[in-house]
Amino acid sequence: MARRVAIVTGANKGIGYGIVQALCKQFDGDVFLTGRSKERCEAAATELQKEGLSPKYHHLDIDDKDTIIKLRDFMKEKYDGIDVLVNNAGLAYKRESTVPFSEQAKMTCATNFFGTLTVCNTLFPILRPHARVVNISSTNSQWAIEKCSDEVRSQFLQPDITIDKVKGLIQQFIDAAQVGQHQEQGFANTAYGMSHIGITVMTFIQQRQMNNDTRDDIIINACCPGFVQTDMSSHKGPKTIQEGAVTPVYLVLLPAGTTSPKAQSNTGDEVERKRMKKTLIY
Ligand SMILES: NC(=O)c1ccc[n+]([C@@H]2O[C@H](COP(=O)([O-])OP(=O)(O)OC[C@H]3O[C@@H](n4cnc5c(N)ncnc54)[C@H](OP(=O)(O)O)[C@@H]3O)[C@@H](O)[C@H]2O)c1
Repeated sequence: MARRVAIVTGANKGIGYGIVQALCKQFDGDVFLTGRSKERCEAAATELQKEGLSPKYHHLDIDDKDTIIKLRDFMKEKYDGIDVLVNNAGLAYKRESTVPFSEQAKMTCATNFFGTLTVCNTLFPILRPHARVVNISSTNSQWAIEKCSDEVRSQFLQPDITIDKVKGLIQQFIDAAQVGQHQEQGFANTAYGMSHIGITVMTFIQQRQMNNDTRDDIIINACCPGFVQTDMSSHKGPKTIQEGAVTPVYLVLLPAGTTSPKAQSNTGDEVERKRMKKTLIY
């Protein structure tokens, strides 16, 4: 049987690096540190090697579909599948950034939401039975959805919402932001938060779809790692990257047959919907 394999996106620094570090110690198989710069990945892998760990690395820019396809083909050939996928890569503009909001909305959603979705769409076909996926989201999504209009919020929380519908809503947010109309159209005034609403809702749908898949026991969760000291947070959070890695690592090491936490198909029941919202956003 092929060796087990885990992939972490955006892992040359920050929480992704912490996740690779922990998986190298806890995961029974090969762990791939991936990133968009070969040099930064090599440097990160070298650092981990100094601790006696043996991560492998592979090029992956989640904004570049060719690199995602190359990673999929490599995994298919060398491992005949994937057992763990951590969608960690992401970006956030600083509060003091002078980049216009229109640009921030476009770039943030392009990477955090559309990039992550492309990774999922490309790699999910080779997930093995019992695979575990975690999409790193943020409690910002919880805050942002409360700031959306009732109309927009109810569209995101439709029990039978589809990926196309989520894509449409996020695109609508981006388009509205280009003309400064996003708040008038009911969206929250946060590019990062809106991109993470997309990730969290996408996770619900992915598990619903996976529940109908012939492959057994594949679990997809989203989580917030907490407020973590990284470049993204300007090193302000209370958590170290090792502490930020705890929830994602817990979720990708869930044993076979786990029934919860698991982003389930939404039954339309209000209580269930709220419960799942809590499960998704730690
Ligand atoms: N830090 C927090 O408090 C916090 C809280 C909630 C959620 N999160 C989420 O946790 C995740 C990791 O954040 P972090 O704090 O560790 O941030 P970070 O230190 O800025 O690291 C982000 C990582 O993502 C990579 N990346 C960005 N764009 C990419 C792309 N197109 N393709 C591949 N990799 C890309 C970066 O690579 P480069 O080095 O090449 O730029 C870097 O490795 C993000 O999704 C973030 O939204 C963070």
